[in-house]
Amino acid sequence: MAFRKSLVGLGAALVLLGACSDEGSDAGGSAAAPAMPTQIEAVTFGLNSDVAGERLYGRECAYCHVGRNTGTTMLGKRLPEGTPAQLHERTDLAADYVKIVVRNGMVNMPPLSRAEVSDEELEQIARWLAKEPAQ
Ligand code: HEC
Repeated sequence: MAFRKSLVGLGAALVLLGACSDEGSDAGGSAAAPAMPTQIEAVTFGLNSDVAGERLYGRECAYCHVGRNTGTTMLGKRLPEGTPAQLHERTDLAADYVKIVVRNGMVNMPPLSRAEVSDEELEQIARWLAKEPAQ
């Protein structure tokens, strides 16, 4: 019985430790890396933006590419040191490249069809990511 109790205690302590270290990395961040957006900031990204490209990016892409989500995580593993893992912080993306990746998918990113994102919407997203003026 005593053994079982201490195991339960250990489990609770580990859960607490996990919660603490998660909070630490989200809230404070280290001096080198700025804090990542929270999950709420990721799913509401661009929601009230006047810029269509940013609004559409928030709707179609941000749940993977903003904050600590699959796109950010996967790209963070393979991009060269110093390249931001979040696409909206990049300055090296060409609009045509973005469109090709979205329609064809890439490794862990599924292709998005015209039913999900129309050509006009994709054009605006790609231009916004490439920091090109909207049409
Ligand atoms: C379901 C999750 C998911 C969604 C939705 C998603 N992506 Fe991705 N995206 C990924 C992942 C994961 C990768 C990294 C693939 C890899 O492992 O190399 C990626 C990679 C990319 C890349 C390649 C970046 C580079 O440096 O090569 C671009 C560009 C991109 N996504 C654009 C978009 C755009 C624009 C949208 C919205 C229209 C979008 N993605 C929606 C998951 C997603």
